[in-house]
Amino acid sequence: MEIVICKTKEEASKLAAQMITDAVKKNPKLVLGLATGSTPVLMYNEMAKAVKAKKVSYKQVKSWNLDEYVGLPGTHDQSYRYFMNKNLFEKIDIKISNTHVLDGMAKDPEAECKKYEEQIKKAGGIDIQVLGIGSDGHIAFNEPGTSLASRTSVVYLTPSTIKDNARLFFKGKEKEVPTRALSMGVGTICEAKKIILLAFGENKQNAVQQMVEGGVSQFCTASALQLHNDAWIFCDEASAKKLKLKKYYAWRSATKMGK
Ligand code: PGA
Repeated sequence: MEIVICKTKEEASKLAAQMITDAVKKNPKLVLGLATGSTPVLMYNEMAKAVKAKKVSYKQVKSWNLDEYVGLPGTHDQSYRYFMNKNLFEKIDIKISNTHVLDGMAKDPEAECKKYEEQIKKAGGIDIQVLGIGSDGHIAFNEPGTSLASRTSVVYLTPSTIKDNARLFFKGKEKEVPTRALSMGVGTICEAKKIILLAFGENKQNAVQQMVEGGVSQFCTASALQLHNDAWIFCDEASAKKLKLKKYYAWRSATKMGK
C-alpha cells in the first residue's frame, strides 16, 4: 500500500487525476473502475479539465462502476448512473455506451451481477479501480461482515451508511435511502490491476487507520487492500490524522513520486 498524504483534498485529487490521465495517455483503451460519493468529485473535475485542455481523450476508454441502489432507475437523480453522467461522463469525451453501471431495476438482480462480472472479464479486467471509503471502512457497498472474497452481488446497507448517504444525497431523509444495493465484491475489486482510493475529512480518520494499520479483517473491508500490491491511498491531513506512521508514509510516497 502506498499512502500519499496531502495537505488538502484538492491537492490529493489533482495527484490522483494526474495518475489516471497519465495511464489513459499511455493506454487509450484503459478499463476504469469508477466510484460515486462526494469524495471523487474533485478528481473527476480535474480529469474533465485535462480533456477540455485536449491533454487526453477517453473515446476508447471503458468503465464499470462499483455499485447502484436497488430500486432506483438510472434516471432517478439519486441513482449512481445519474451521478456518473452528471459528474463525469457528460464532462469528458467517453462514449456513454462504453460506460457501465449495475442496473438497480434489474428483474433478476443476481443475473445482473453475474453478467457484470462476465463483462469485466471479457474487457480484460479493470486496469485502474477508483475507490472511496465509508466511515465504517467499506469499499463499494461491502459493509462490515462481508467476505473479503465476495463477488458482485445484492448487498445490505448498515444504518451508519444509510445515515451518511442520507446526509449527502437524500436531503437528510434516511427513510428515502434504499436499504439494498448491487455492488462489486471485495474479491472483484481486488482483482483490479491498480487501485486508487481517496479518503478525505475527519469522518474517515478511524476507517483510514483501520484500513492501513489494522489487521486484514472483514470488519473493515478496505483492509483487504493490504493484500494488493499496487494500491494507492490518497488522503488529506484530516483523514490521515490517526495513522501512527503518517510521517514515514508521507516521506516514502513523496520520495517515490519525486516530490
Ligand atoms: P463519500 O462516500 O465519498 O460520500 O464519503 C464514500 C463511500 O461510501 O465509499
